[in-house]
Amino acid sequence: MHAGASYFCSTFLNGMAIWENENWDAWMDELASRDFIVIDQFLPAEMYARMRSFLVKKLREDEFEKAGLGSLFNNQVDTRIRGDYTYWLDKKRDEHLSAFFELVEELNLQLNRACFLSLGGYEFHLAWYPPGTFYQKHVDRFKDRSNRMISVVIYMNEAWKDGDGGELKIYRPDEEILVEPLANRCILFKSDVTEHEVMTTNAGRYSLTGWLLHKPSTVGYLFGNGI
Ligand code: OGA
Ligand code: MN
Repeated sequence: MHAGASYFCSTFLNGMAIWENENWDAWMDELASRDFIVIDQFLPAEMYARMRSFLVKKLREDEFEKAGLGSLFNNQVDTRIRGDYTYWLDKKRDEHLSAFFELVEELNLQLNRACFLSLGGYEFHLAWYPPGTFYQKHVDRFKDRSNRMISVVIYMNEAWKDGDGGELKIYRPDEEILVEPLANRCILFKSDVTEHEVMTTNAGRYSLTGWLLHKPSTVGYLFGNGI
């Protein structure tokens, strides 16, 4: 676990992509064997700043909505389970964020290569947890929809300090790990098996959260055959 450790990583340092980092193979081994990996300074600084100011703008414009449970087709709001508000990114509407979407598409390709996955799409939202809110222990796969493969959370809390709460607790068979939601820290974890919980936050808690999705298997077949 790298949280808190002062180790070197920068996504595009000197033009170098994260998957060209000398640690990339070790990180992928860790994701495969431990089901999660924490990477600090994940986004290039300029991209992080752009995403963070977009979040601030959307908050000011009051565009966040109370997050629900279940998929789009079976959505219920229950603040006893989760208390966050979200703004879903839309590749077409939010087209000035295209560099971010390209990075996610490249991440899919690299994870496919390194971990033998079949990732093909993604969905991302901005999230805001007001003080006093949390998200109870859960896994990220819906009962009625099971294409979420890898969860990605990039934290955006510039001044997070001890006592602010809002840590992510990861449950492993043999241990529980608390991840502090520090600015530009990213956690990747397997969506189907990793039980996790957002501890009660005492300060506003911000993140960019998403899921890398399993490639739809029938579309290519149906359309590829001209049907
Ligand atoms: C979620 C979630 C974790 C976090 O949105 O499903 O578990 O640390 N988020 O924000
Ligand atoms: Mn979750």
